[in-house]
Amino acid sequence: MAKLPIHIWPDPVLSTRADEVKVFDDALRTMVGDMFETMADARGIGLAANQVGILQRVLIVDLDPENDAAGDPELAEQLKEWGYEKPMVLINAEITSSHGKITWEEGCLSVPGVTEKVDRAESVTVKACDEFGKPFTLEAHGLFAVCIQHELDHLNGRVFVEYLSKLKRDLIKRRMIKAKAEHTVNETQTVSI
Ligand code: NI
Repeated sequence: MAKLPIHIWPDPVLSTRADEVKVFDDALRTMVGDMFETMADARGIGLAANQVGILQRVLIVDLDPENDAAGDPELAEQLKEWGYEKPMVLINAEITSSHGKITWEEGCLSVPGVTEKVDRAESVTVKACDEFGKPFTLEAHGLFAVCIQHELDHLNGRVFVEYLSKLKRDLIKRRMIKAKAEHTVNETQTVSI
């Protein structure tokens, strides 16, 4: 496995719609492995392929990157309530229904150091394929649902700051461009998807 560079907004690859995966081969599975390594290294809980410069409809989720639930029954119960069981890959994912509303303070590995409140559906039903092309359906709630919606936005060329006011968005954009130019992109933050 190899760690991949994470693209920082407003990189154009983050504003481009990713293509459907048609071939489920070893190259795809290697890429998924690389994405998991990249996400773990960056301490993220979700990652979409275009964040590492690959325009394919692949997203991964790991809501418990430090394996804390093993020694924390409350966290284990929370993850279960959200419908989350284990790290997973969703390929060609589509939301088939969504319900309710939840506001979450979101962060993003492609917009380091920034968190902002975003409204999302509280629950989503998703159909997707695994890395072998096997289809499955899942129901996600809470942070699990937020994470899937955030990553699907990425694959559709949308970053969470685009939900903010133009003023806020432009301020963040300037900060990112400046940080990139100065090579001072802040890579330490808690929850980033
Ligand atoms: Ni993100």
